[in-house]
Amino acid sequence: MDKIGKNRELRGFFHDLFGEEKTEEILLFWENLRKRYTIRVNTLKIDREELIKRLNEKGFVTKSLDFYEDALEIVEAPYEIGKTLEHFLGYFYVQSTSSMLPPLVLDPQPHEAVLDIAAAPGSKTTQMAQMMKNTGFILANDIDYDRIKALSNNVDRMGTLNVIITMTEGHRIAFMHPETFDKVLVDAPCSALGTMYKSDEIRKWWSYEKVRRLKRVQKGLILAGFRALKPGGEMVYSTCTFVPEENERVVDFLLKREDRAEILDIEIKRYKGFEDGLVEYRGEKFDERLKKTLRVLPSSRFEEGFYIARIKKI
Ligand SMILES: C[S@@+](CC[C@H](N)C(=O)[O-])C[C@H]1O[C@@H](n2cnc3c(N)ncnc32)[C@H](O)[C@@H]1O
Repeated sequence: MDKIGKNRELRGFFHDLFGEEKTEEILLFWENLRKRYTIRVNTLKIDREELIKRLNEKGFVTKSLDFYEDALEIVEAPYEIGKTLEHFLGYFYVQSTSSMLPPLVLDPQPHEAVLDIAAAPGSKTTQMAQMMKNTGFILANDIDYDRIKALSNNVDRMGTLNVIITMTEGHRIAFMHPETFDKVLVDAPCSALGTMYKSDEIRKWWSYEKVRRLKRVQKGLILAGFRALKPGGEMVYSTCTFVPEENERVVDFLLKREDRAEILDIEIKRYKGFEDGLVEYRGEKFDERLKKTLRVLPSSRFEEGFYIARIKKI
């Protein structure tokens, strides 16, 4: 059975958005996808070459990836990469290549004040901490206690010293910390269709009703993130789903609500599978500026679907 299975609503969604041919192409690509492990070298603790050497000595074969020098693919593994001492020591983080993109687009700098409004389990928080060389600070927030435990473990394991963890409804942060941050990441909870190849669960629960509920949370988080930004600051809104209601429509909502929101170009190379954001979906027109946002469709380099928008507060 393919990844959509008997979920007719989901099949209809895929066919509406992508058309027959592209839907089959994506599903076939995922079906033939060999389980692929990619890692991010934790430069706070180890040098890239040193990590490669240590992993090679244990029989792991790594491959460099051209989009990010701290990313490595594990092409041969004598046992699970997550069971190595180097993993326990926080020398690397197992992370999909697509998930490394939002921090690269946000590009947090040393000494900046950063908000990660929905941070657990901390893939992107710990990536940003290393990009900031453990300086400045990241307020890493989430609402889910169990996921915060994982966030806290990852923050410790990776040796990050600039992360403050809070547990609150993300929407409240705008009131507590208005116009405070140089950079904000809103990596929103979403219907996760871009990760369907990893799990059979998504096709079981996906529905438009679920999308509608998520959209409310996403709108609240993007607005809170924007209000917590300093004037001149930048925000990235990202999801791991294809659904325009959770992506372009949420950013369109922000543009309508906030005059000071501007969409910036995403200055990374256009790889295979990278497409412009939609400006129209099912007869509904969105702001033309949404063309500058990025849809990441599954490809051999980025197997997970993602959506990324880069926004500035002017
Ligand atoms: C896509 S995940 C974040 C993944 C994380 N950024 C990473 O890279 O490891 C979305 C997160 O949003 C959190 N969340 C859901 N509703 C929230 C809310 N109202 N306020 C804050 N966080 C929320 C979920 O608990 C979940 O951990």
